[in-house]
Amino acid sequence: MCAKKSADPVIDEISTLRAQLEEANYRYYVEDAPSIPDAEYDRMLRRLQEIEAEHPDQVTADSPTQRVGAPPAEGFPEVRHAVAMLSLDNAFDEQEVRAFARRVGERLETDEQAITFCCEPKLDGLAVSLVYENGLLVQGATRGDGRTGEGITANLRTLRSIPLRLRGDHLPALLEVRGEVYMSHSGFEKLNDEARTRGSKVFANPRNAAAGSLRQLDPNIAAARPLEFCAYQVARIDDEWLKPSHSALMQQLRDMGFRTSPEIDVVTGADGLVDFCDRMGRRRERLDYDIDGAVLKVDDLRAQRELGFVSRAPRWAMAFKFPAQEQTTIIRDVTFQVGRTGRLTPVARLEPVQVAGVMVSNATLHNMDEIERLDARIGDTVVIRRAGDVIPQIVSVVMDARPEEVHAIEMPEQCPVCGSRVERIGDEVDARCSGGLFCPAQRKEALKHFASRRALDIDGLGTKLIDALVEREWVTTPADLFRLEAERLAELPRMAQKSADNLVASLERSRHTTLPRFIYALGITEVGEATANALVLHFGELQRIMDASREALETVADIGPIVAGHIHSFFAEAHNRETIEDLIRVGIDWEEVEVGEREQPLAGQTWVLTGTLEALTRDEAKARLVALGAKVSGSVSKKTHAVVAGEAAGSKLEKARQLGVEVMDEQTLLNFLGQHESAPSSEKAP
Ligand code: IVH
Repeated sequence: MCAKKSADPVIDEISTLRAQLEEANYRYYVEDAPSIPDAEYDRMLRRLQEIEAEHPDQVTADSPTQRVGAPPAEGFPEVRHAVAMLSLDNAFDEQEVRAFARRVGERLETDEQAITFCCEPKLDGLAVSLVYENGLLVQGATRGDGRTGEGITANLRTLRSIPLRLRGDHLPALLEVRGEVYMSHSGFEKLNDEARTRGSKVFANPRNAAAGSLRQLDPNIAAARPLEFCAYQVARIDDEWLKPSHSALMQQLRDMGFRTSPEIDVVTGADGLVDFCDRMGRRRERLDYDIDGAVLKVDDLRAQRELGFVSRAPRWAMAFKFPAQEQTTIIRDVTFQVGRTGRLTPVARLEPVQVAGVMVSNATLHNMDEIERLDARIGDTVVIRRAGDVIPQIVSVVMDARPEEVHAIEMPEQCPVCGSRVERIGDEVDARCSGGLFCPAQRKEALKHFASRRALDIDGLGTKLIDALVEREWVTTPADLFRLEAERLAELPRMAQKSADNLVASLERSRHTTLPRFIYALGITEVGEATANALVLHFGELQRIMDASREALETVADIGPIVAGHIHSFFAEAHNRETIEDLIRVGIDWEEVEVGEREQPLAGQTWVLTGTLEALTRDEAKARLVALGAKVSGSVSKKTHAVVAGEAAGSKLEKARQLGVEVMDEQTLLNFLGQHESAPSSEKAP
C-alpha cells in the first residue's frame, strides 16, 4: 500500500465536498430546486466531517461543517448597528396604499402611475442583520431597538439558508444584508408534534418558535430547529457594487447565495401596488410560511435617497397589513374525533368567528395534555389562530373572561364511533379506541394493513379497492374479505372478471399464513413484525397470547410495559376476539410453531443493523435476531456484540471499527442465521 499520502488528494476532496455542499444549499434555498436527496447531503457532510477530523489544520470557519458545534454562550454581546434597522409605516386598506403612491409621486414630482415599485411579501418572523467581510460571514445580530441588537452569530450560522461564504470570485470587501428568520408551517407543526409527544412545551405560533430558537444560548438548539432566512435589504455595500434599483440588488444577493422571496414582483403605479396586495392576500393561504402583509418599496435607489426618512420609517416603503390571524371566541363544546389509527383527538366546537377572512367554527385541541396545559374548559373565551393551511389552533385561554360556570373537558370512556373502551396506556400522550379491526373509523386503514405485503399479503387488494369495498359496505371486518365472491367483485367499476377471479385466488392463497404474520396483520398498536415474532416464539400459540396477563407479556424479549398494555387491551376487547374467531371460521390457518424453551444462542447480546441490506428487510433481520435472543439496538457502544453493515453504512460502522466491535456483512449474517435457526415443526393448527 502507499507509504505516505500526499496532502493534495485530501485537500482536493475537501474542496470538492465543500463546493458540492454549497451548491446543494444554493439549489435548495435560492433556486428552490433541490438537486440531491437529503440523505446524500448528509452523507457528504459526514464524509467532510470525517476528513476534517483527521486533518484539523484544514478546517476553515466557512466550512459547511462549522455551522454547528460552537459551545453555549454565557450571554449575547451587544451589537451596535452601523445603519439603524428601521420599521415601516402601515397601510390597512386600498385607500391607504393609493395614498402612499400619491405621496411618493408628489415628492418626486412625477406621475405616480409611472413609478416602479418592488413588492415583496411581509414575512412574519424576526429581522436580523448579517455582516460579511471579504465574503465571509463575521457577524449576525437581531434588530433589538433598531440601534442596538444582540449578537447571535453562532445561532445564525446554523441556518443552511445563510451562506457562511458568499458565492463568486469577485466579492465586496463589506456587505451588510438584512432579512427575516422564520419557520415554515410544516417545520413548526413537526416541532410541536415532537414536543407534544415528549410532553414538553409547545410554541404558540411559528414566529414565537423562531424567536425562541434564536434566543437560545446553545447553538445546538437553533441547529435542530427548522429555521430559514430570506434576504430583503442591503444595508451596506461598497459603492462599486451598488445597483440602480432595489430589484437589481435582490438579484445580486441571489447571485451571492442568498435566498430572496420567490414572490418578488416589480409593478408600476398605484394600480400595480393594489393588484400585488390582492394577489398576496390570495397567495397567503397557499404559502408554507406566515406572511402578515406585503412590503411595497420604491424600486429606484436614487429616488429612495431623495425620499429619505421620517422619524423611524422610510418614506420610500410601506407595509400593507393583512387582517389579523388571531381572534377571540368561545368554546361551546368539545367532541372527540377518532382517527384512522384509533387516536382520539379533542376538537373544540367554537362560536363561529371570522379569522383572516374565513369563518372558523372548529379548532383542534390535540390531546388531553394540551387541554391541561391551556387549562381550557367548555364555556371559556379563547384566542384562536389560523395561519395558511394550519388547522385553527387554540393559542390561549382568556382567564379574565372565564364565566362562573365552565365545564371540564373529559376524555370519553367509550369510543364515540364504535363504543369500544378508550385506552390511555402508561404515560402516553394519546388516548386510543381499543376497537381496532371493529371500529368503523379505523376500518379502511386496518384492512389496508391487514392485506399488506408483510401481513396477509393479499395480492391485488390495493388501497382503492379497499376504499370501494368499505364504502359499499361489502366489507366491514377482515373476515368479510374471505367471503367475497368473484361474480360480485366483477360488478365493481374497472374490475374485469379476470381480475376478480385473480383476487379471489389470491385471497385463497392468503388464507394459509404464519402466526407471526397473522398477529402482525391484526394491527395492534406498536406491534410490528419483530414483536409479533417474539410473541410467537415465547408463547407458541395464539390462545396463550390472547390469554396472557400484562405481566406475562412483559417477560417477552423486547416488550416493555407500554407495548404489553396495548397487546393486553387489544385482546381484552370482546369485538377483537370475535373478529379473530370469525377469521378462523372463514378458514385462516397457519402452521403451528414449537412452543417455548427454544434455544436462544444470542441471549444477552446486543446487535446493531446499519446501512441498506439487500436480501432481508431491516425488520426481517431484526425479527430473526430477536428470535435468537438478541436485543437489536440503534446505536453502537462498547457493549455492542456485533454490527451488521449493509450498503452505504456510515457513522455506526465507523464507530464499531473505532471500538473494535465485530462487523459482519449481510451474507455472513445470513450464514450465521442459517446455522442457528432450527426449523419449526410442521404440525397443522386446528
Ligand atoms: S424592508 C427600512 N422587507 O417588517 C425597512 N421588511 O415593519 C426595511 N419585514 O422589521 C424593512 N418582510 O422584520 C422589509 N420583505 C420585507 C419584509 C420586512 C418582513 C419585517 C422586518 C421589519 C418589519 C418592518
